[in-house]
Amino acid sequence: MTDRQPATAEQVERAWRDTKLAQVLYHDWEAGTYDEKWSISFDQRCIDYARDRFVAVAGTDGWPYGTALEVGAGTGFFALNLKQAGVLDQVHVTDLSPGMVEAARRNAERLGFTIEGRVADAERLPYDDATFDLVVGHAVIHHIPDVELAFREMLRVLRPGGRFVIAGEPTRVGNWYARRLGRLTWAATTRVTHLEPLRDKWSRPREELDESSRAAALEAVVDIHTFPPRELAATARRAGASDVRVTTAELTASWFGWPVRTFECAVPRGKLGMRWANFALKTWMRLSALDRALERVVPKGLFYNAEITGLKP
Ligand SMILES: C[S@@+](CC[C@H](N)C(=O)[O-])C[C@H]1O[C@@H](n2cnc3c(N)ncnc32)[C@H](O)[C@@H]1O
Repeated sequence: MTDRQPATAEQVERAWRDTKLAQVLYHDWEAGTYDEKWSISFDQRCIDYARDRFVAVAGTDGWPYGTALEVGAGTGFFALNLKQAGVLDQVHVTDLSPGMVEAARRNAERLGFTIEGRVADAERLPYDDATFDLVVGHAVIHHIPDVELAFREMLRVLRPGGRFVIAGEPTRVGNWYARRLGRLTWAATTRVTHLEPLRDKWSRPREELDESSRAAALEAVVDIHTFPPRELAATARRAGASDVRVTTAELTASWFGWPVRTFECAVPRGKLGMRWANFALKTWMRLSALDRALERVVPKGLFYNAEITGLKP
């Protein structure tokens, strides 16, 4: 399923009992519009973002890594931008969703890269032991039922001394406030946009809102974990990783970013225009810079994102 097709009520019903089916349905459905929804691009803005997140947790030693695997690669945001940043050389992308693997291949082609892409479960990677110098992932392990098993698999396919870097995972506290901010923004926005004088121009058509509700229902099934930073580190160590380090990012930026993203989803597509997009991006970047300063004084567990790295002994 590669074209955008909303999941049917029956599929959603089955997906409640089968989390991996839910992942495939939800992410296949999202694949065609994912880059637009999350403002993903392959220009300097996202190259810098990906490189900065990598450096924050793992530093610059070992660049460029010769062969790299991304698990749960989605449309290729992390690995393709890291390649452009000169962090890694050969890219292999994997994802449970065929639609996402196809989207990542298309993005790579547009950038003029040849990459290998496979549909694969991060709990059972279809690669030999000791194949890669680097394994990366972004916003993926909170979807995986057995996170320790996924770390074991990453370590298995790494060469001795190889590194894994996983970024963009929700902390437990961060997820708590992000969800609440999102729900409040959705309720407030849809209430206002359904008022008579605004309804025609500002409320999204009923079918689109129904589609969003079905997606939201699946989202509740696909988002499995949140991570207190210390527990995340302990899980990687139990899987056999050495030199484990966890960092966190985004505090005020997430207090701004989640309501903004929710607001954008609640009004008709394309309604807000470039001035809004620039305002949102610039404000988010300023707050992210503030958050980097706050990282020194605010407890890690309060930030929204956790990032982890470690080595194969
Ligand atoms: C939130 S998206 C992140 C995509 C991309 N890494 C990014 O940051 O834009 C999560 C991705 O993980 C994939 N995924 C979920 N469960 C998985 C699993 N068990 N193995 C591999 N990929 C999985 C989904 O299909 C989806 O593409």
